[in-house]
Amino acid sequence: MNFKKYDNEIDEMIKSMTLGEKLGQLNMTAQGGHMMGPDGKEVDMEAALKSGKVGGLQNIRGVKKLTHLQKIAVEQSRLGIPLLFAADIIHGTETIFPIPLAEACSWNLEAVKETAAIAAKEGAAMGVRLTYAPMADISRDPRWGRVMESNGEDPWYNGRITEARVKGFQSDDLSNPHSMAACIKHFAAYGAVEGGRDYNTVDMSEQRLREIYLPGYKAGIDAGAATVMVAFNDLNGIPCSCNSFLLNQILRDEWGFEGFVIGDHTSVGEMVNHGVAENIKHAGELAIKGGLDMDMVSQSLLIHGEELLNQGKINIKMIDRAVRRILRIKHALGLMKDPFLYLDKQREAQWVFRPEYRDTARKIARESIVLLKNQNQLHPLNESIKTLAVIGPFADDNLTPRGEWAFGGSHYDQVVSLLEGLENRIKGTEIRLINARGCNPMDEDTGQLSEAIEAARKADMILLALGEPLEMIGEARSRISLEIPGGQQHMVSELLKLGKPMAALIQSGRPLNLTWLDNHIPTILQCWHLGHQAGHAMADVIFGDYNPSGKLPISFPRSVGQIPVYYSDKSSGRPYKPNLRWCTHYLDSPNSPLYPFGYGLSYTTFQYSEITLSSTTLSRDMTLQASITLRNKGIYRGTEVVQCYLGDVIRSSAPPVKELKDFQRIILDPGESKEIIFNITEKSLRFLAIDLQYRSEPGRFIIHIGGNSQQTVLQSFVFKG
Ligand code: BGC
Repeated sequence: MNFKKYDNEIDEMIKSMTLGEKLGQLNMTAQGGHMMGPDGKEVDMEAALKSGKVGGLQNIRGVKKLTHLQKIAVEQSRLGIPLLFAADIIHGTETIFPIPLAEACSWNLEAVKETAAIAAKEGAAMGVRLTYAPMADISRDPRWGRVMESNGEDPWYNGRITEARVKGFQSDDLSNPHSMAACIKHFAAYGAVEGGRDYNTVDMSEQRLREIYLPGYKAGIDAGAATVMVAFNDLNGIPCSCNSFLLNQILRDEWGFEGFVIGDHTSVGEMVNHGVAENIKHAGELAIKGGLDMDMVSQSLLIHGEELLNQGKINIKMIDRAVRRILRIKHALGLMKDPFLYLDKQREAQWVFRPEYRDTARKIARESIVLLKNQNQLHPLNESIKTLAVIGPFADDNLTPRGEWAFGGSHYDQVVSLLEGLENRIKGTEIRLINARGCNPMDEDTGQLSEAIEAARKADMILLALGEPLEMIGEARSRISLEIPGGQQHMVSELLKLGKPMAALIQSGRPLNLTWLDNHIPTILQCWHLGHQAGHAMADVIFGDYNPSGKLPISFPRSVGQIPVYYSDKSSGRPYKPNLRWCTHYLDSPNSPLYPFGYGLSYTTFQYSEITLSSTTLSRDMTLQASITLRNKGIYRGTEVVQCYLGDVIRSSAPPVKELKDFQRIILDPGESKEIIFNITEKSLRFLAIDLQYRSEPGRFIIHIGGNSQQTVLQSFVFKG
C-alpha cells in the first residue's frame, strides 16, 4: 500500500496546524477513551477534542458513542481532523475465534485470513478503524503469558500467519468500510523476555534478532500493515520506545515502512523506570528522536513538546514527520474524506455476530484442536457408550473458552462450553451425560472430589475437562511452573484408581507440562481456548464428525528446565549420543520436547513414501523438485499438513539442524494417495551470514519431509553454487 500518496494534501494541512494541534495528533488516549491531565485528574474529553488535543481514542466501541465524539472533533475543533478509533481486536470481537496460538495450529492460512476479515467487518461496523493486531512476537517460552497471542516458535511460519492476518484485517483497500488498519506488534523481540517474565529485558545478538525474531514483523509490513506498535522491553539496553536502530534504521530505512509507529500502553513514560529518561519530558524527546510517532497514554509530547522545542531539544521537523505519518493512515482509511464512513448504525446492526460468522468460528476451532495421543483409539467416541462422565473444572465453563483479549463483546452468554457442546451432540442418541467439577484450577481444595468419583463410578468412560483458567494466561501472567494447575492432577490420580477408560481435553492458553498426563492417560486432545464455538468444536472432534488435523506451532516441553526447547536448534560441537557423558544433554531429561513442533495426530494414519528428487544437484538458476507420495492408510478421511524442512550440512556459521521452508495441507479419502511436490531454489538455501547478508553457500543439503519436525523422510542434494 502506498501511504505516501497523500503527502501533498498532508503538507498543506500541516502548514495550517498550530503546534498544539500537531502535538494533539500524536496523542492516543487511555482505555475507554479517558485522558488524565498533568495534575493526575481526568480531563474533560469534550473540551480536549474541541481544542484538537487528541489524535485517537482506544478501546471504546459502538457507533452511537463514537459518532458523538467524532462529531465534536470534526465539527467543533478548528481544523476538524477526524479521530482514529483503535481497539484490541485480537481474535475476533463480537464473534470470538480461537486464541492466535490455537489458530496457528490449523495451518490453514485461508481460514486465518477469513477470521481476521470477519473481525474487521465486526470491528469496523462498530466504528473501530485500527486494531492492535496481529502480534508477530516469536515465542519459545511458554512461561510467558502472552505466548497465547503468538504464532509459536518458527520464523517462517509466524510470517505466513502474520501476513494472512494483515490481509484479512486490511483487505486490499483500507477505505473499504469492512476493513480495519492492522498494527504489527510488539516491535521487537517482546517474546524473548528473559525468564519468560513479562516486560523483562531482552538481550540477543543481531544475528538471532534478524534471523529468528524480525521476519514475522517484516512479513506483516510487506503485507501492507499500516501501523506498528513498539514493545515494552529494552533490546540490548535500549527501550524499544526510543530504539532508533529498530524504528529508524530497520523499519523505515531497510524495510521502507511508511505508516506510523505507536508506543505501547504508557511505554514512553516507562522509559523513566527503564532508567534511560529522567522524566516524561525527557522520555518524549527520546521517543520522537528514536522514531516513535504516536504516544499511547503517556502524553509526553502533548504536555512537554512545546518546552522541548523551545529548548532546542527537538525540532519541528520531527513533529511534522510524526504528524504526517499519522495523517497518512487517516487518509488511507478514508477518514479525511468522510469521518463518518464507518459510523453507520444500520451497518452496526447488520454486520455483527452473524450466523455465518459462527459457522466459520466452529470450523476454525475444530481445525485448531491437536490430537496429542490416541492409544487404544479411545477417540472418536464409540456411540455405543451408555454413560459418559465429563469431569473437571473446564466442563461446564463458558468463560475460559473466550480466551484472553476477548473483552468488550456483548454475546459472551453464547460461548459454548464443552458440556453444552456435548449435550447438543448427543441429542437423539442413547448416550447419557453426567458431570462433576471435581476440583478447582486455582487451589488444591479436595471438597468436590468424592462427587466426581461417584460420577465416574457410574460411567463407561470419563472425559477429563482439564486446563488453565483465563486468570492464568495473557499479559503480565507469566508462570514459573507449567504444571496443570490447582487440584487437577490430584483429581486425575484419584480417578485413575477406578481403572476406567479416560481421555483428557486440555483447554489452556499455553503449552502446559503434560508429561505426567502423557504417562497416565491414553488419549489427549489439546483444545486451547477456542472461542464462541469451543464446545461444539470439541464435540465434533470427540465424536469424529471432524477428524483432527491440528499441528503444533510450538514445542511442548517435558519440563520447565528444558526451556527454551525448539526444533531448529543447532547440533553443537558435541551432538547428543545415547549413553555418552561428554555430549550435549541433561542428566535427568531427554533433550527432545514431549511433543515437537509440527506434531499432531489424526484418526487415520498417513504413510509417507521415500523422497524422489528431480536431480541430485541444484544450481543457482534451477528449481529442484522434491516429491513424496502421501497415502491415507486408515479408515477415516483426513487432513495432513505435509511439512518440508531443509538442513545445511556445512556452512560458514553453524546451521540449525533443519528449518521449515514450506508446507501443504492435504485432504485424502481412505485409501487415497497423492503426489506432493515441493520446489527448492537457491533462495530456499539462503541464510543470514556472519556479515549480516543473506546468501547461500555451496555444499550438501538435507531435505526432510514429514508430518512433524521429528519424524521425516530424508534425501540429500548438492548445491553447486
Ligand atoms: C498491550 C498491547 C495492547 C495495549 C492497548 C498493552 O498493555 O501490551 O498489546 O495493544 O495494551 O490495550
